[in-house]
Amino acid sequence: MNSRIKGFHNFTIEKRKKIISQKSGIDLEEIESALGCGGADIGELDKMVENVIGVWRLPYAVAPNFLINGKDYLVPMVGYEPSVVAAASKAAKTIREHGGFRATADPPIMIAQIPLYEVSCPEKAKKIIYKNKSRIIERGNQAVPNLIKRGGGVADIKIVDFPGEGYLVVELYINVLDAMGANIANTIAEFASPLISELTGERVLMRILTNYATKRKVKSSFSIPVCRLNTKRVAGEEFAKRLASASRFAELSAKRACTQNKGAFNSMDAVAMALGADCQALEAGGHCHASSSGYGPLCKYNIIDNFLCGKIELPVAVGIVGGISHIHPGVKFSLKMLRVESAQELAMVIASAGLASVTAALGALVTDGIQRSHMKLHFRKNQE
Ligand code: MEV
Repeated sequence: MNSRIKGFHNFTIEKRKKIISQKSGIDLEEIESALGCGGADIGELDKMVENVIGVWRLPYAVAPNFLINGKDYLVPMVGYEPSVVAAASKAAKTIREHGGFRATADPPIMIAQIPLYEVSCPEKAKKIIYKNKSRIIERGNQAVPNLIKRGGGVADIKIVDFPGEGYLVVELYINVLDAMGANIANTIAEFASPLISELTGERVLMRILTNYATKRKVKSSFSIPVCRLNTKRVAGEEFAKRLASASRFAELSAKRACTQNKGAFNSMDAVAMALGADCQALEAGGHCHASSSGYGPLCKYNIIDNFLCGKIELPVAVGIVGGISHIHPGVKFSLKMLRVESAQELAMVIASAGLASVTAALGALVTDGIQRSHMKLHFRKNQE
């Protein structure tokens, strides 16, 4: 499958569906039934959250042109901000002409925190926990027999100390395989914590995952020869310099980094929405990563040997099983169209979409200005 679609935006909705059907090999009828009534009927939605009285519809779009690690993707995006899909597809088109995105993802390790509080003798408690490490791991794993059968479960335990504060935090490192893993992590933490209390004689304050999934980072990058970035108004070398300079500015100014990161989440959230993933978790983890040494940009650009190099890094905790992935017809369709085989692969698509968005936004900001590209789309909208 080649995800390059020329002038996709110029076609009618009907024609676009036909193209996606041809490209993805998914029947038109299946697309109609998956997306026809906004992805799910009200009966199904009523089971998802409480007190449902209606359905709030959002546009479901496809960003073509994504080439990541040599594989083509038609990337689903749900959201209502104009120009996000167009900008990401356009950047992905340029990037694919130069080899596409190169991405890597850490194994799907989630961390659960079990803080003990008012600990009188942290050293003693620490020793007991480390001595009983395998017992605690075993107890936690008893909560998730199916995950264990498939090769997941608690892989390690670490203890974090806050000297003088009376807290001792037991961190469980859990391989959640292809799930997002929040429920798994919370279940295991709740199951294992009574044993920790019993062994140490200390009290547990809470049992909860952290959305700062420091062991679940994803990286994506691209490089383009500077000479291939020439535009009508700006020479490639000057364009690349401006992008690298914008990147440095975002490292210096948290105000700017925040806005640049918002641009990354424009498309990362849109993809996450189309996959029924937890956008709030994605954003919380991303911003926490961005502030690991003073708040900075998730995407960075520099010029190396006459190549413009762009990269993104952040934790991405998303799953392809669990949650609403097997309930919501729209989410099922997104997964089928994307053809991702693991949570790690999905995370790489999301990070690449973020990098595409920021690349396009910076390209507009350092040349014509963002309003010009936004206004083009507003104009189109008003004409129709
Ligand atoms: C608008 O939604 C996103 C931008 O502000 C991002 C940026 O400034 O880099 C254009």
